[in-house]
Amino acid sequence: MRCYLQALTLCMVFAFFSVLYVFNQLASSLESQSGWADMEKQKGSRKSYDTGYVLRKEPGVAGLNDRQLRDRCNSLSVSYWNPYWRLPPDVCDVNCFMDSPYREKPSAGVKTSTERMHLGVVACGPRLEETLTMLKSAVLFSTKPLHFHIFAEDHLHNSFKDSLNTWPSVVQNKFNYTTYPITFPRENANEWKKLFKPCASQRLFLPLILKDVDSLLYVDTDILFLQPVEEIWSFLSLFNSSHVAAMAPEHEEPRIAWYNRFARHPYYGRTGVNSGVMLMNMTRIRGRLFKNDMTRVPLSWNELLMPLLQKYKLNITWGDQDLLNIIFHHNPESLHVFPCQWNYRPDHCIYGSNCRQAEQDGVFILHGNRGVYHDDKQPAFRAVYEAIQKYTFGENMADSLLLPLEVKLQTTTHTYCGRASHLFTRRLKQTIGSVQQDTTQG
Ligand SMILES: *[C@@H]1O[C@H](CO)[C@@H](O)[C@H](O)[C@H]1NC(C)=O
Ligand SMILES: *[C@@H]1O[C@H](CO)[C@@H](O)[C@H](O)[C@H]1NC(C)=O
Ligand SMILES: *[C@@H]1O[C@H](CO)[C@@H](O)[C@H](O)[C@H]1NC(C)=O
Ligand SMILES: *[C@@H]1O[C@H](CO)[C@@H](O)[C@H](O)[C@H]1NC(C)=O
Repeated sequence: MRCYLQALTLCMVFAFFSVLYVFNQLASSLESQSGWADMEKQKGSRKSYDTGYVLRKEPGVAGLNDRQLRDRCNSLSVSYWNPYWRLPPDVCDVNCFMDSPYREKPSAGVKTSTERMHLGVVACGPRLEETLTMLKSAVLFSTKPLHFHIFAEDHLHNSFKDSLNTWPSVVQNKFNYTTYPITFPRENANEWKKLFKPCASQRLFLPLILKDVDSLLYVDTDILFLQPVEEIWSFLSLFNSSHVAAMAPEHEEPRIAWYNRFARHPYYGRTGVNSGVMLMNMTRIRGRLFKNDMTRVPLSWNELLMPLLQKYKLNITWGDQDLLNIIFHHNPESLHVFPCQWNYRPDHCIYGSNCRQAEQDGVFILHGNRGVYHDDKQPAFRAVYEAIQKYTFGENMADSLLLPLEVKLQTTTHTYCGRASHLFTRRLKQTIGSVQQDTTQG
């Protein structure tokens, strides 16, 4: 009798789970089918499909739930036009694009080509010419309109205006600019000024000063763009809901890295992050509360900075970059980390090449820190700077920029960075190729 009861119970338990399983399968297949149906309907109801891309069903997609599908669409729409994210062609055939109901907002991309990109820089001391060269590299290769936000000591404002206003009108049509004085929150202005080199902490306050700007690409003055700014701008549309900013690692090679060997404060990840190229969704920075090691309550950006400085001022070496590392150490989910070729520094080649992604695709953004554009320590970096600085607007870029640069780089092969300098021109060559093609067509 007992044996019979046991068997019966076992049977019932088995039957119960089978039914549960079948229901579950049914529900998930319905869910994904209705997802696709919605998408097709949406597509059909549109008069013109302005991106022109096809929406096709991909094998394997049926098993994805809504959330996964949306993530897939979000990544695909960018992958289509940003070469860095290019996926295998069979995956790219599915294009959910802006018309997808799964997209929360239009992507920065094909459709929103008039969306303006905001570029911020803080220029102090003898950085005028270097900053102008950075801005020049930004307009030379970009096709989308730019707005420059230039923070500078007062005596530099006129020099910036004088120089930018002499650029040819075809170039001037591509950008607007605003100059700002260096400012700090009134209460602690003196403290901020005293603690860092002039201007060094200005970038921390940009989300609070530029209240009407949604997103900003902040760069140091010693940055050179080797491809259009829109490429890095597109990372904004890859942000998941936690991300507020994006930066590159400070180092690829922990054995020669700084933070993990010397820092006396918390830092992000394995080797910290470098703030020389920093993409910010400032709307989110202003709205977010950040975990910290000063109080148990999360603090807004505004409330966070001063106590952070007070706590760590004796322990920080690189100023505001250290503070950013501390903030993102406690809020790692808020940071999107992009690969080293978006912020390529002498550290990546000085003892031999260690930026794997640059070896594959070339350098996208060059960062000549420690003054290498102006001394003889890294002639390959200096060569790129001088090539862009000396180039005259309107001349053929292949002949007047790329060619002299390649010749110059030949003379730098006695240095490790010189030996890696084909990586400096790999992407630049493609960029110039496509810019020239555009101008001859237009
Ligand atoms: C610059 O500003 C003017 C006036 O606001 C505007 O008409 C123009 O489109 C802007 N140019 C760019 C490149 O954003
Ligand atoms: C500063 O560094 C000292 C020495 O390494 C360390 O003992 C101290 O805890 C650090 N201060 C903070 C706030 O982390
Ligand atoms: C920045 O974040 C806000 C809030 O999440 C969002 O509305 C906005 O579209 C984002 N900006 C960009 C350029 O993605
Ligand atoms: C966003 O990505 C970060 C990694 O960059 C991750 O830690 C975080 O959990 C993600 N957030 C969401 C909501 O998926």
